[in-house]
Amino acid sequence: MDVKEIVFASRNKGKIAEVSALLAPLGISVQSALDLDLPDVEETGKTFEENAKLKAFSACNLTGKPALADDSGLCVKALNGAPGVYSARYAPERDFAKGMQKLLAEIENSGSKDRAAYFACVLVLAFPDGSFQSFEGRVDGHIDDQPHGTGGFGYDPLFVPEGQNQTYAELSAAYKNKTSHRARAMEKLKTYLQK
Ligand code: IMP
Repeated sequence: MDVKEIVFASRNKGKIAEVSALLAPLGISVQSALDLDLPDVEETGKTFEENAKLKAFSACNLTGKPALADDSGLCVKALNGAPGVYSARYAPERDFAKGMQKLLAEIENSGSKDRAAYFACVLVLAFPDGSFQSFEGRVDGHIDDQPHGTGGFGYDPLFVPEGQNQTYAELSAAYKNKTSHRARAMEKLKTYLQK
């Protein structure tokens, strides 16, 4: 893949640093939505891929350059995959302490004893010719009875990844950054760009 420059359609400084660090060794420079002051895009899609495509093509069409965007969220089996693409909006007033209590109450009310859940991340790389590539990463686990730990963000204090007995908010950031849904999607992107 002969790509030397990618626009990353995100304003999240943590994600921008992560993507820049991942692509620098491949000789690819990254300009972000912050650098270019790109407008926010409404996430009207019903899937992670649809939302990532909306964001990536908006940035691609505005800049004329290949553009990358991501979308991610938490899918809970007892809630038929919710909150999914609505993960950010699901938390009342975007307060994740409230969002986690809401999630625990809804699982309780569902009557299901199944605590299985996964985090998913889809990255879409959009090209000026209208083509695109998408890369999905997923990490399976379960929802704990109560929030535990102070690390991470969002729903991390409730999510116990498979093979562990602590939540992502208790496990080290290094562990999460190596094994997360985002890390797995990024690995696939990197493999594609190295071809
Ligand atoms: P976005 O893809 O940045 O829009 O994130 C969507 C939402 O999914 C976030 O606001 C969080 O609620 C949730 N989410 C995505 N990834 C994670 C994670 O690694 N830990 C905890 N919550 C996450």
